[in-house]
Amino acid sequence: MGTILSTKDVCRDFTTGNNIVVNALKNISIDIEEGKLTVLRGPSGSGKTTLINILGALDKPSSGEVWFDGKDITELSEKKRDKLRRYDMAFVFQSIALMSSMTAYENVEFGLRLADVPFSERDKRTREVMKNVNLEKRMFHRPGEMSGGEQQRTAIARAIAHKPKIVFADEPTAELDSTTSLHIVKLFKELVEKEGMTIVMTTHDPSMMEVADRVYTLEDGEIVGR
Ligand SMILES: Nc1ncnc2c1ncn2[C@@H]1O[C@H](COP(=O)(O)OP(=O)(O)O)[C@@H](O)[C@H]1O
Ligand SMILES: [Mg+2]
Repeated sequence: MGTILSTKDVCRDFTTGNNIVVNALKNISIDIEEGKLTVLRGPSGSGKTTLINILGALDKPSSGEVWFDGKDITELSEKKRDKLRRYDMAFVFQSIALMSSMTAYENVEFGLRLADVPFSERDKRTREVMKNVNLEKRMFHRPGEMSGGEQQRTAIARAIAHKPKIVFADEPTAELDSTTSLHIVKLFKELVEKEGMTIVMTTHDPSMMEVADRVYTLEDGEIVGR
């Protein structure tokens, strides 16, 4: 197991309406190891979302390089980056974006369709992954009939169902109570240990740290702890 993703001197500047430049990221060089749970932590405004969006090819740095699977992905065309996001990467967000008219099962199955997984494999894989997130019993419930934690577990199931090489989760526990949050982070840990997944998550909650294999601390757009 080695480094699957890394940044080299990544900077990201935003220019706001009144021409003020915000240096959201300053010379970030980090390595994300395969088969590990990496946590990016830091207070609100420290640059976590900006960094995870760049790691996940949703955004490009103003300068610097991002290497994924041995390739410099900052140089790739938008089409190739789109392919990368669709097949090799997965995202879990703070606000849980499930289809409310679909059951948990259908939400996950739909995700597999988007990732071009053939029909013949979708049912088996959906059931398998619902088991991985301990939701077998709630599989045929709609989001409105599930708790926040169950909804987030469904979103995680949908993210991991097509077996991406890496999963990004931006503050996945921010809208959950502390007990539920801990369960979600423990689930991530389990997915890393039992399923060999690679997960990168951000949090501003210091209690999430103990399960991480690696922690990077951000402050004002800089890495202040590793
Ligand atoms: N699109 C944007 N335009 C201007 N400033 C931005 C934009 N996105 C983020 N920022 C600024 O960059 C800094 C880091 O933001 P962000 O990455 O969202 O932090 P965090 O996720 O740690 O709360 C903040 O000062 C924020 O205001
Ligand atoms: Mg954020």
